Amino acid sequence: QKCILIGAGMDCGKRRRGCLMGPDAYRTAGLIDTLGDLGWQTEDRGNLPGPTWVADTPPGELHALSETITWTRLLSEAAQAAIGQGFPIFLGGDHALSLGTVAGVSAHAAGQDRPLFVLWLDAHPDINTPTTTLSGNLHGTPVAYITGQAGFDGFPTLTAPVPPENICFIGLRSVDASERNFIAQSGMTAIDMRQIDEHGIAAPLSAFLARVATAGGMLHVSLDVDFLEPAIAPAVGTTVPGGATFREAHLVMEMLHDSGLVSSLDLVELNPFLDDRGRTASLMVDLTASLFGRRVFDRPTRSHS
Ligand code: ARG
Ligand code: MN
Ligand code: MN
Ligand code: MN
Repeated sequence: QKCILIGAGMDCGKRRRGCLMGPDAYRTAGLIDTLGDLGWQTEDRGNLPGPTWVADTPPGELHALSETITWTRLLSEAAQAAIGQGFPIFLGGDHALSLGTVAGVSAHAAGQDRPLFVLWLDAHPDINTPTTTLSGNLHGTPVAYITGQAGFDGFPTLTAPVPPENICFIGLRSVDASERNFIAQSGMTAIDMRQIDEHGIAAPLSAFLARVATAGGMLHVSLDVDFLEPAIAPAVGTTVPGGATFREAHLVMEMLHDSGLVSSLDLVELNPFLDDRGRTASLMVDLTASLFGRRVFDRPTRSHS
């Protein structure tokens, strides 16, 4: 079993800078040794040579469109090259990274005749388009792009849009009005924090994983740092109170591991400039460890089909 690390220090999906240091913070926090201890061979492909920071555009205007398009092309190609060779982990960089990674992974899945599912662990659904965005920050748009919504002129044409029914959000608690309307009529599964409060995080996740297994799907997981409660994960520009707890987040990753369904992973929005002695980077590495098999005791094998 082999992991392929692809660094993408992209910082153009929003105005605040610092996510460009993300890939090296994960390496510094010991990601490669951690995966090695779990029996994974790791190939680090270094950092992609995309555009770095861009001067701020005025509020409300679209920020760094052409840089984001360049990153999308680079990441889509890197994802398509990697996914047939191992388990790619994309080290961000802000969440605009997923415009490219999911585009690449979905092209690969289509070539294999397998449906792609996407689990979006985030406070935000990131389903604005360049036309609906109020902030102009393109890190708020990847889910609209990968499901084939209009408004992405100039971006690479999607080979294989992900059907909205194959998208599952968990952790939502900051949703724009236009995003709410779109989700309501889209067929996407949207688990907000209240549902987690009322029913726990395991039940809705199990239901989604059962659907992926039944469909014989591949599963891409996109983990935004702001999925987590800011008190345990301060290193992100878009903190929203009331996020997933330490154990909720680990449980998600442990269940994902047990499912055996995950085929690619994004780690996004880590801003090491905002961290507190590396604790957020370390937590993200530990969550990745849970996804790659770290556990206290073995569990009875679970079946989703
Ligand atoms: N919905 C807001 C926007 O469009 C916030 C997006 C936050 N996205 C993120 N990846 N942190 O700007
Ligand atoms: Mn996000
Ligand atoms: Mn977010
Ligand atoms: Mn996948």
